[in-house]
Amino acid sequence: MTTNLTGSPATTATDSVLACQDVVKEFHVTGSKVVAVDHVSLDFPAGDVLAVVGESGSGKSTLARMLLRLMPVTSGTITFRGEDVTDLRGKRLRAYWSQVQAVFQDPFASFNQFFPVGDLLRRSLALSSVGREEADALIEECLGYVGLTPAQALHKYPHQLSGGQRQRVMLARALMMRPKVLLADEATSMLDATLRVNVLNVLHDLKDDLGLTVLFITHDIGQACYLADRVAVMEHGKVVERGSTDEVIFAPQAAYTKRLLADVPDLKGSLKRAV
Ligand SMILES: Nc1ncnc2c1ncn2[C@@H]1O[C@H](COP(=O)(O)OP(=O)(O)OP(=O)(O)O)[C@@H](O)[C@H]1O
Ligand SMILES: [Mg+2]
Repeated sequence: MTTNLTGSPATTATDSVLACQDVVKEFHVTGSKVVAVDHVSLDFPAGDVLAVVGESGSGKSTLARMLLRLMPVTSGTITFRGEDVTDLRGKRLRAYWSQVQAVFQDPFASFNQFFPVGDLLRRSLALSSVGREEADALIEECLGYVGLTPAQALHKYPHQLSGGQRQRVMLARALMMRPKVLLADEATSMLDATLRVNVLNVLHDLKDDLGLTVLFITHDIGQACYLADRVAVMEHGKVVERGSTDEVIFAPQAAYTKRLLADVPDLKGSLKRAV
């Protein structure tokens, strides 16, 4: 049985970890209204990778920010393990944030350049009740999940790491919180092809090893199909297609999905996962 943030049994009938129902986000800019997310309902079954795909401006990051509770919804609800978290505040919101971790596009921007990676990771744990020795063990364990040794990372400054290493350190930092959900918003976009595959494989393994539920946000349907069990396609703030990865690739329904797929002609052939 799952429990929610207050430790009570989850009330949901499904095994969703995270879900949103009818979520809307409107922005009002100089007198005009932009509906960035338009009545989106999604659920994230435990242990799955769900990719949200769509072109630039389709509302992916706005949806992610609402799910992360970094931005209020205009309307709709967000539930985590059966508990309505749409309006959580204070301690319970912080508890939610520890369970739903995120990795963003530019790992450099998330680092303080003046501290070695080991210090940065320890500082992330400073607010928790973890002691120094326990913290170091946890850091080592989480670096291991992303394929880094302490020697490769701990004493280096962020600029001394490669892009892929920085991205993996960010992943390790997210994992240290022992989240239930990991949200990756364009987390591999800035990497070259080899590093991208490397980080995608790490994400894929984490799902299996830690039973993490992963929400992978990308404009690249090729990457989405490589990694995800299920894909949701967004266009102009709406989900226009959803299904298993195979359904979306081999039997796309929406014209928009067909267009995205046509841009990656070798997708079907290249979907032999290297994991
Ligand atoms: N803070 C904001 N104020 C006003 N409009 C915004 C704001 N944030 C996003 N938007 C608008 O909402 C729409 C969706 O933006 P969003 O960043 O969610 O798209 P995206 O799918 O993540 O795009 P990308 O692939 O480029 O990251 C866009 O039209 C954008 O201009
Ligand atoms: Mg975005």
